[in-house]
Amino acid sequence: MKLSLRPILWLVAGITLVTFALAYLEVRADEHRLLADLERSTAGAAERMQDDLPTQAKAGSREELQRLVQRLAKGEHVSGVALFDSQGISQALTPGMATQLAVPLSSLVKAKAESQGRGEFLWLEQSRVYVYVLPGQAAGRAGVLAVVEDASYIDAQKSRIWRDASLGVLLRVLLIALTALLVIRWSIVEPIKQTAQWMRALRTGGATKQMALPDGTLLEPLAKEVASFARSLDAAKETAAKEARLRETADATWTAEKLSAHVLKKLQGNRLLVVSNREPYMHRINGRTVETIVPASGLVTALEPILRASEGTWIAHGSGDADRTMVDEHARLRVPPDDPHYTLRRVWLTKEEEQGYYFGFANEGLWPLCHIAHTRPTFRAADWEQYQAVNRKFADVVLEEMEGAEQPFLLVQDYHFALLPRMVKKRRPEARVALFWHIPWPNPEAFGICPWQRELLGGMLGADLLGFHIQAHCNNFLETVDRVLESRISWERFSVQREGHRSVVLPFPISVDFAEPAPTPTPSNVLAAERAAVFAELGNNGATRLGVGVDRVDYTKGILERFCGIERFFEKYPVYLGQFTFVQIGAPSRTEIKRYHDLFDQVAAEAERVNARFQNGKWKPIVLRKWHHSHQEILPFYRAADLCMVTSLHDGMNLVAKEFVAARQDEQGVLILSRFTGAGRELRDALVVNPYDSEELADAIRLGLEMDTPEKKARMQRMRRVVKEYNIYRWAGNLISELADLRIEPPESTKAHARSGGGMGGM
Ligand code: G6P
Repeated sequence: MKLSLRPILWLVAGITLVTFALAYLEVRADEHRLLADLERSTAGAAERMQDDLPTQAKAGSREELQRLVQRLAKGEHVSGVALFDSQGISQALTPGMATQLAVPLSSLVKAKAESQGRGEFLWLEQSRVYVYVLPGQAAGRAGVLAVVEDASYIDAQKSRIWRDASLGVLLRVLLIALTALLVIRWSIVEPIKQTAQWMRALRTGGATKQMALPDGTLLEPLAKEVASFARSLDAAKETAAKEARLRETADATWTAEKLSAHVLKKLQGNRLLVVSNREPYMHRINGRTVETIVPASGLVTALEPILRASEGTWIAHGSGDADRTMVDEHARLRVPPDDPHYTLRRVWLTKEEEQGYYFGFANEGLWPLCHIAHTRPTFRAADWEQYQAVNRKFADVVLEEMEGAEQPFLLVQDYHFALLPRMVKKRRPEARVALFWHIPWPNPEAFGICPWQRELLGGMLGADLLGFHIQAHCNNFLETVDRVLESRISWERFSVQREGHRSVVLPFPISVDFAEPAPTPTPSNVLAAERAAVFAELGNNGATRLGVGVDRVDYTKGILERFCGIERFFEKYPVYLGQFTFVQIGAPSRTEIKRYHDLFDQVAAEAERVNARFQNGKWKPIVLRKWHHSHQEILPFYRAADLCMVTSLHDGMNLVAKEFVAARQDEQGVLILSRFTGAGRELRDALVVNPYDSEELADAIRLGLEMDTPEKKARMQRMRRVVKEYNIYRWAGNLISELADLRIEPPESTKAHARSGGGMGGM
């Protein structure tokens, strides 16, 4: 309260001072004006009387003179009039003036000497008068005229001004003090009190989120700062609480939060970098606007929590046509766009680089090489040149982003960057580098047809940790290294020792987000409505049973084989004609490569062929949707389907199978799954098939459609348990754990140096 009074007192003092100063100036000006008026009017009255005096006063007796002065005073409305002789002896006075006017004789004498009028203010008893003395032409007894005027009204006026000023000051002071008190109370004291309460609640762990902060007041900027400080504090508290919970429930389901806490602990403040060809956010021009696209890939779900937790950097090819417009001068931008938490560093590639490295070597060479899907790999020296150059380009960017970081972590993704781990490790041996290979690794014979297998293996073995989806791929890799390179392989520890560097090779089965904690189950009537909407979207062709397939249109996915299986199904089980429809969602992919372009047309032609064979009215066996669908758009199809078909000819894992299982909250639906997928090893309750065997596919479709509800439920429950437990967060968590816990040995050259006693240690 003291604090709030002080400014008011200063304000009051200031106002009083200013008001009185103004009043003083006013009084002075008024007084001068009134005095001047009085002097002028008195002198005027005296002059007029003087004009009449010579004739009237000449022969007058004292009585006559006495009457004369009374008349003159009355005529001019003055307070008094007196006549004196030239010696200053009074001859006649208006009544009441005799004694008072005895004093000013000196002035009368002076006036006579000067022979002109002269005025003077005199104090008579308690009040002021103005006396104007005028020597006349008339000689003798009444030669000098004195006119007296009362000046006390001037002092009364002065007092009135002072009184008004004082009253004004009092009123203003009261008003201002009151207003200031209210303003201070509402705008400062109350908000401060509220903020203090809020901060106290925060400190003591009260319900801060429900309490509103002062808003729109003087304290708003402060409140905003405090609010953001509180949020950080809240987040820190929450993380601490989460960590505590995690310690208690070490084996509970992995979630994005658990992964974040885990990553923070494992990184111990070190910088984290991710490299992939495909970027997590792409900017594309759409008419006059720029749209943000999240490419359909499980990778963003898996890696984003890690990058968020570590505020890390994701390095990727900037392939969107509006990508350059969205970055700063270092080709960086903060993402996710609506809640930025980490950095995306875009790498620009020329058309030739993209052609040779991505379309050429990666997708026409390595992709078919690693997938045993009967598409011949194409190896061109020019593509290999670009592959090396682009790996070098990315490595330079990685090294630049690692600058100043003590022991950075690097997670390299996929077959686009086989050479990058070695390039980075050569320059930063203390960095922890992992390479995760998202596609299968074939047997040594198959891999052996690659003309640059030694270089590829050497590049990969620069990594401290090499990850594949399944153990069989790890084994294939170790066998390939064993055949091709001089190295020491430990089959107990699954590691390769080469040129003084050790690489550990482990399986990490990738997965999907299982949406934990589980949302409230969708009521069955809502699911039924959703299913009806899906049938309506497919044209309400009379079918009551639905199958679904979701793929990039890629020859490894076995889409044509799937259609063969469907054709065989209708041949074998014609009762399903008109009853069962299969919807194939096929996103165009890598269509600049002839093989993919042709396949896209083949898939459409094959669907048409099968449809033409069985179509009846509106109903047709296959509905082909040949465009990209977001995850949200695919979900209703997953939930409405009686069965989902994954018939890859070869697949590292296949996340569609797991997405279908994760979507089936109703514990219904049947999964038909190729035995050549990584997922086939985990989802044993799927109907596991050989996609090349159309008889088997046809029977699996029938089995799926006729399976009784309890069995479907039991199978789906078991598969859901697997996907829930081994979800994407666990994948990422395990990868980071393994990488963080590895012993990074100093490079051979450093050891040799140490042995010879060189370096700082010898000093
Ligand atoms: C596979 C690869 C990924 C790749 C994805 C899509 O899953 O393992 O690295 O991103 O296909 O292919 P694209 O060539 O369009 O990136």
